[in-house]
Amino acid sequence: MTVQKQTKIVHPGGFTGGVVCVPGDKSISHRTALLAGLSAGTSEISGFLQAEDCLNTLKAMESFGARSWIDDEGMLSVQGTGGKMIEPVGPLDVGNSGTGMRLLAGLCAGSPIQVTLTGDESLLSRPMGRIQEPLQQMGARVDLTPQGTAPMTIQGGQLHGIEYRLPTASAQVKSCCILAGLYATGRTTVLEPIPTRDHTERMLRAVGAPIRVEGQFISVEGYGPQGPKFLARPYVVPGDFSSAAYWLAAAAAIPGVQVRAEGVGLNLRRTALLDVLRRMGAQVEIERTSAPTDPEVYGNVTVTGAALNGTEVSGDEIPNLIDELPLVAVLGALARGRTEIRDAGELRVKESDRVAVMAENLANMGVQVAERPDGMVVEGSATVAPVKSIRSYGDHRIAMSMSVLAIFSAEPVCIGNVACVDTSYPDFWKQLSTLGVKVE
Ligand code: S3P
Repeated sequence: MTVQKQTKIVHPGGFTGGVVCVPGDKSISHRTALLAGLSAGTSEISGFLQAEDCLNTLKAMESFGARSWIDDEGMLSVQGTGGKMIEPVGPLDVGNSGTGMRLLAGLCAGSPIQVTLTGDESLLSRPMGRIQEPLQQMGARVDLTPQGTAPMTIQGGQLHGIEYRLPTASAQVKSCCILAGLYATGRTTVLEPIPTRDHTERMLRAVGAPIRVEGQFISVEGYGPQGPKFLARPYVVPGDFSSAAYWLAAAAAIPGVQVRAEGVGLNLRRTALLDVLRRMGAQVEIERTSAPTDPEVYGNVTVTGAALNGTEVSGDEIPNLIDELPLVAVLGALARGRTEIRDAGELRVKESDRVAVMAENLANMGVQVAERPDGMVVEGSATVAPVKSIRSYGDHRIAMSMSVLAIFSAEPVCIGNVACVDTSYPDFWKQLSTLGVKVE
């Protein structure tokens, strides 16, 4: 991130709803950069998210020997390495992105190269022991700080397949193990405690990798140290459901207002927010437009608002809306009655401690909220008190979720340190204005 301090003033009211086309899915964009960068030949990727996080992953792939360029229509071309990674010159800075760091670590662990991965202040405080453990079991050397954080130096080596039971449900750790498994000898099997987003599995299947999913066991047969021989292919990145979520949630809380998000990813491991919106009382319609042969499901979603009621979100649902939980807390404030988020301790190790930060921000806006070790309880009253300013803590999802709440305030709200929004949704403010809200 270049600019650290920047403030937006969101004026209350005005949200009219409408049709939105959100930018490409962040998780899928990271993975296409990796797979295209690994393949032999030039892959064309439409819908790639041109935001800081994914561009950093692309840059990292260039340091391993890939080349990339983007045309005027936003089509990304990646000329891959053919599987053989060269040692980068100097450390790779992946900025704010946990996905970038954890997936790249897995990808380079099976090559005879030394790689140092670093990032911004937020990323350097996040737990990396969770990938160090399986990668070391497979035979790589992974050095971290004494706190178990990055900068991380990986000395890649000859890997062997392992069976690994994930201690926490994490698509990033699962994907790290699977990508390392591609360069291992033998089979790598990951058991996940709760199903998490499966973009890596779907994409690997699409490029013909020997990957098998049986219940919560995911196995990949390794290609050995020479790595996989994937061929370049076209990729289509659907719109990011997590970006559409802000507009769908805003509409949900205003009776009669409608938002239609077009061309958005509808992978069930990402869209649990829609179930939550239905439970709270909003109307949700889904129209699938992807072909049955497409690796990812996508289509159009229309949400019509209503007077919302509180709900409970916990258990298996959590990984399927992990990035939308700050927004669920916002919806809780806008609903009547209690909204309870449980089993979401992972929220504390995201780009910020999203439990603490949301509890503080909501309390500042007069919302009754109790912080719990693994979530929070919000007592909604369908109104929020005027407040002059709120903090984003440099976390894009906090800045955007709180901007949605600001629409419902009686006074303009200053949201500080919003440069972080550029990591995932650079056009967020423009889109907010298009939907009728005045932003300065
Ligand atoms: C992601 C997985 C999730 C999510 C993150 C993106 C991914 O993290 O919060 O924004 O692309 O795999 P965890 O897998 O660590 O929960």
